[in-house]
Amino acid sequence: MADTHTAHTDIDTLIRMLDAAETMPAAARLRARSYELLRLPPDATVVDVGCGTARAVAELAEQAAHAIGVDLDPAMLAAARSRFPDIDLRVADAADLPLADGQAHGYRADKVYHVLPDPPAALTEARRVLAPGGRIVLLGQDWDTVVIDSDQPDLTRRIVHARADTIPHPRIARAYRNLLRDTGFHDVDVEVHTAVFTGATMLPLLVGHATAAQQAGAISGDEAEDWVSEQTRRAQDERLLIAIPMFLAAGTR
Ligand SMILES: C[S@@+](CC[C@H](N)C(=O)[O-])C[C@H]1O[C@@H](n2cnc3c(N)ncnc32)[C@H](O)[C@@H]1O
Repeated sequence: MADTHTAHTDIDTLIRMLDAAETMPAAARLRARSYELLRLPPDATVVDVGCGTARAVAELAEQAAHAIGVDLDPAMLAAARSRFPDIDLRVADAADLPLADGQAHGYRADKVYHVLPDPPAALTEARRVLAPGGRIVLLGQDWDTVVIDSDQPDLTRRIVHARADTIPHPRIARAYRNLLRDTGFHDVDVEVHTAVFTGATMLPLLVGHATAAQQAGAISGDEAEDWVSEQTRRAQDERLLIAIPMFLAAGTR
C-alpha cells in the first residue's frame, strides 16, 4: 500500500473508514463544495489524484466530459473498478501524471498531500497538466489538531501529536494556500470546514492513533489499552466525539 496513512491499518480498514467518513451528509456537502470550486466548463477534463475508491471521480463524471481517477495503489484502484466499472482509472504517481501538458481544466486531490514524499513536485506536475485558467482544489485534514473528547486530555494530546509525527506532512493542509501561491497559482482561497464524527465506525481511527503512539514510544502499552478502552466505552454509549479541521484550498492556473 502506497499510502503511509495505512502504516497501522490494512487497506480494508482504510476503505471502511473512508466509506464511513464519505457517506456522511457533511462529507457529501464538502465534496460538492470542492466540485463547485473547480468551476468546470461543460466540456472539461478533470483529474482526481489519489482518488482511492473513486467516489469523487464517479461524481465528477456527472459534471464533466471526462473525469480521470489516478492512484498509486493498484489494490485501491481494483476496489474502485469493482464499484465504478465504467470510469477512467489509471495507476500513476501524483508527481508523474499520465496526462498531456494543459490537458485538464480541473485538478483535485482529497486527503492525499500529507502522504506524498514531495508535495511541491506534485503541485508542479498539477500545474503542468492544467490548462491556463484551469482550477486546482486541495482538500485535507490537519493531523496536529484532531480534537478527541476524552477523560484523559493530557494522554489524548500526546497520542494525537505522536500519531501526527508518524505522517510525512501532518500540517500540510494549513500550508496549502502558500504552497499553491509558491507554485504560481493565483486567486488562491482557503476555507476550513470541521468534520464531526460521533459513530463507532471511526473507532479504528482511534485504535490506529493509540497503536501509532505506542509504537513511537510516546505512550506505554497500559496507557494505550486504557485509552482505547475509554474510547470503546464511549462508542458503545454513543458518547464518542472526534472533530477534524478539513482545509479546502483552491487556485487558478
Ligand atoms: C487517504 S486516501 C484518500 C482517498 C480519496 N481521495 C478519498 O478522499 O477517499 C489517500 C490515497 O492517496 C493514494 N496515494 C498515496 N500516495 C500517492 C501518490 N504518490 N500518487 C498517487 N496517489 C497516491 C493512496 O493510495 C490512497 O488511495
